[in-house]
Amino acid sequence: MKSDVLVIGSNMIDLITYIDRMPVEGETVEAPDFQMGFGGKGANQAVAAARLGSKVSFISMVGNDSFGKQQLANFKSNSIDTTGVGVGSKSSGAAPIFVDPTSDNRILIIKGANNELTPAVLDNYIDLIQNTKIVVLQQEIPLETNYHAIDLANEFKIPVLLNPAPANKELDINHVSKVDFFSPNETELSTLTGMPTSNLDEIKRAASRMVTMGVKNIIVTLGSKGVLWVNNTNSELIPAIKVKAVDTTGAGDSFIGSFAHYYAQGEDIPVALKHANQYAAVTVTRKGTQKSYPTATELLSLTN
Ligand code: RIB
Ligand code: NA
Repeated sequence: MKSDVLVIGSNMIDLITYIDRMPVEGETVEAPDFQMGFGGKGANQAVAAARLGSKVSFISMVGNDSFGKQQLANFKSNSIDTTGVGVGSKSSGAAPIFVDPTSDNRILIIKGANNELTPAVLDNYIDLIQNTKIVVLQQEIPLETNYHAIDLANEFKIPVLLNPAPANKELDINHVSKVDFFSPNETELSTLTGMPTSNLDEIKRAASRMVTMGVKNIIVTLGSKGVLWVNNTNSELIPAIKVKAVDTTGAGDSFIGSFAHYYAQGEDIPVALKHANQYAAVTVTRKGTQKSYPTATELLSLTN
């Protein structure tokens, strides 16, 4: 099966509670709103690319429960190729999320069946890895599976984008150095390099360090400040589009998924980054995770 974008990663059911404030221990507090929806960093990235019109294949594990069935139906309704989606023996991944009035979020993840996406599973889908324009990875599945994915993609000379979210101190730099695009946020960059990233200069220094370690392109996502792209010859800040944020859940994933889409369409990196910033900006103005991701047509009408 040929695709533009192959995502290998997680899927979760998002349980989003919109809160006025977090309860303290022993306290019960009423929250104004709740939404259940489809999430998981891998699935979110796959859905963003698919809604923009990329042919997307997904390798993932859903749980052996009703959520798993709903996940599969959701991938299909987003025209995602599900050849690589298996049903595990555990429950589906779930994510209780709390969004506060400033639109910031706190996320807990229960990985469930996502932990059953082992390196051996990938060997069943070599054909998917060989026949795509870019492989996209995050960190809600076992790290060894990502390492194996990187090795396989390298073998077939397929570009790899690794989004090291959520941050994991165990991430092995030898594997990171073999990816074409490494896209952390400030915190993840600091975790991996052990360097401070509290201002732009520090972030540039940490990103340059990663380039010397062998990563071709570092794309540091800086939230409302935009993204910093650093490689051997360039260091460029691509500013974010200013919007009124209501829910930033999954905005980072929409950025990664849409970047993969534009890259697969043959856009130059800075152009793809600019478009991806625009895509992510639209998603933060709407509640929900995948629910807030526009299609290509919707994006046009919203940004014109
Ligand atoms: O990045 C946002 C995502 O993180 C949510 O959809 C949640 O499922 C967790 O994976
Ligand atoms: Na949103």
